[in-house]
Amino acid sequence: MALRGIVLLCLLHAAFANFFNSWEGPGRESPQDPNSNSGSACGADEGSCSCCLMLREVDKLATLFNDSLNKLEREYALTYQSLKKTEASRSAFSVALFNGNAFKCSSRSTVNKVIVYKKVFFNLGNNYNLTTGAFTAPRSGIYSFAVTIYSDAGSSQNTLAACAQLQVNGRTVAGSSEQNNHDQEDSSTIVLALQLNVGDRVDINLPPGCFLCDDSHYNTFSGFLLYPTE
Ligand SMILES: *[C@@H]1O[C@H](CO)[C@@H](O)[C@H](O)[C@H]1NC(C)=O
Ligand SMILES: *[C@@H]1O[C@H](CO)[C@@H](O)[C@H](O)[C@H]1NC(C)=O
Repeated sequence: MALRGIVLLCLLHAAFANFFNSWEGPGRESPQDPNSNSGSACGADEGSCSCCLMLREVDKLATLFNDSLNKLEREYALTYQSLKKTEASRSAFSVALFNGNAFKCSSRSTVNKVIVYKKVFFNLGNNYNLTTGAFTAPRSGIYSFAVTIYSDAGSSQNTLAACAQLQVNGRTVAGSSEQNNHDQEDSSTIVLALQLNVGDRVDINLPPGCFLCDDSHYNTFSGFLLYPTE
C-alpha cells in the first residue's frame, strides 16, 4: 500500500478515535496505545495493520527522542557544573619587575633571593602575591608559566649577570644564566607547562651574584591555569 494511503488511514483513525470512544465506551484501545494487538487499531485488515505498525514506529521514535533528550539534558547539566567550577577558579597573572619606566637595577644579592615583581598588569584570582613575589596554585591542575630575564649592564665592559631560576616550592625547575662582561645586554625566556597541586608555590629566584636592570618592563613573569585536574 502506498504511504499516502497509510497516512490517510492513520489520520482518519486518529480523527475518529474520540467518536468511536463515545460509541464503544471505556476500555477501547486508543490510538496512543499501539502496542496492543486487540481493538481496531491493529485489526486484521491490511489498512489498520499498516496504520498500527506506523503508530508503533512513531512510538519507538518518540521513546528514542525522549531518551536522547534526557541524555543530552544530563550531559548538559554536568558540563554546566564543570564550567561553573572552572570559572570560579580562573587564575592568570602577568607582572613586570619595576613600576615606571626609569632605568633601575635590582640589588646584587649574595644569597638566593626571590624576585618580587612590582608592576602588576593583571592578577586574576589574586594568586600572585605582590609582597612575596610568589604565585600560589588555587587548585590542582596544569599551569603555564613564562619568564623573561633581561638585563642591561650599561656598557659592554660592565659585568652582565642576567640570571634567574623558576622554582616550585623552593626547588629549581628551570633556569637561565647569561654572565659575562662583553655583552651590554642580553635576554632569555623560560616557558613551561607544570602540573601543580593546590597550594604549590611558584616564584623566581635570583641566585647570588645575579642582578637585573631594565627600564621598559623587559623582565616579566606570567602564568595561568591551563586546565584543572580535579
Ligand atoms: C520521558 O522521560 C522522562 C524522564 O525519564 C519521563 O519522566 C517521561 O515520562 C518520558 N516521557 C515519555 C513520553 O516517555
Ligand atoms: C601575601 O603574603 C604575605 C606574607 O606571607 C601575607 O601576609 C599576605 O596575606 C599575602 N597576601 C595575599 C593577598 O594572599
